[in-house]
Amino acid sequence: MSSIEDRVMQALSTVIEPELNRDIVSLEMVRDLSVAEGTAQFTIVLTTPACPLKDVFVERCNAALVGQVEGIEQIRINWDAQVPTDRRIHGRLDVPMKSIVAIASGKGGVGKSTVATNLAVCLADAGASVGLIDADILNPNIPQMFGLGSGRPKVANDKMQPLEVFGVKLISTGFLTTPDKPMIMRGPMLHSAIRQFFTDVEWGRLDYMIVDLPPGTGDAPLSLAQSFPLTGSVIVTQPQDVAVADAIRAAAMFDQLKVPVLGVVENMSGEFFGSGGGEAFAESRGLPFLGRLPLAAAVREGGDYGRPVSIHDPNSAAGSAFRQLSEVTAARISVAMLQGADVIPINIIG
Ligand SMILES: Nc1ncnc2c1ncn2[C@@H]1O[C@H](COP(=O)(O)OP(=O)(O)O)[C@@H](O)[C@H]1O
Ligand SMILES: [Mg+2]
Repeated sequence: MSSIEDRVMQALSTVIEPELNRDIVSLEMVRDLSVAEGTAQFTIVLTTPACPLKDVFVERCNAALVGQVEGIEQIRINWDAQVPTDRRIHGRLDVPMKSIVAIASGKGGVGKSTVATNLAVCLADAGASVGLIDADILNPNIPQMFGLGSGRPKVANDKMQPLEVFGVKLISTGFLTTPDKPMIMRGPMLHSAIRQFFTDVEWGRLDYMIVDLPPGTGDAPLSLAQSFPLTGSVIVTQPQDVAVADAIRAAAMFDQLKVPVLGVVENMSGEFFGSGGGEAFAESRGLPFLGRLPLAAAVREGGDYGRPVSIHDPNSAAGSAFRQLSEVTAARISVAMLQGADVIPINIIG
């Protein structure tokens, strides 16, 4: 006779993780199972604290256990999260970050920095440890979007200390220059600046390193992808044709650099720029569509005054769209980390 815990575990091994498409027992997501007085209690260890799928787990575990395993009348799930380490990063980097995600676009001004900012603060708000590198070295906007006018990172033990706002650790050339003394750099200097932001900053352990890129297919994404193993890229576009045409070029670049495209974000969706162009682009290339963000004054004001809309006004249409985007993106990052680049559908050229 097997124990009731064994039978519960066996039933749970029929519960499929919807993103990873494997059962939660073999994924080692079930911990600390106990059964008492008809209640099965266990912890599910998610691959991200920003998991959009808790309701699905509850539903599936209920369906597998209650009325299916004799003696189980109800379940109680405790939640925990442990971000896995990207296989490609593990061992190749002496900085303890589990994933590196680049935010990119073809065109400028489509909302990369806005997406990077809101993604980072949402992940941190959910409980993840998050870093953000402003890799738009020549036109750094991240400090302003976090409300940091005059922040200066301290140096200790030969390493720069990142500034921390809304739970996100930040580094930017904006902290090292003033607006009236812009950086003027050639490609090789850009290259080493981006490298140093990884290696010469005291990041500590990070679940997610978000990198906000300058627009286009220039030196920065090339330097980044050649220097560090990237978990993937997120491509931001506006809905209109011109922006989408540039986004296609960005996606093709990542394909050539062998960086998985985690998905496409359509920003500034609405009457003015139209709607649907980003999703159609994603679909035509077999890429995940991560979400549509409305064109809204609150988003722009959030950027100008350092109050990211996703935490400043989380229940507004824009705020909840950004939060949802962060959850969907976190799920795609988990899939990319656990399955490796080879299984992510990338069909840019063909
Ligand atoms: N969904 C949106 N609604 C309104 N304004 C937005 C939205 N997304 C971005 N913006 C604004 O558009 C401008 C450009 O966005 P930004 O994130 O700096 O783009 P990029 O980094 O791609 O150049 C900023 O002033 C920003 O606040
Ligand atoms: Mg930007």
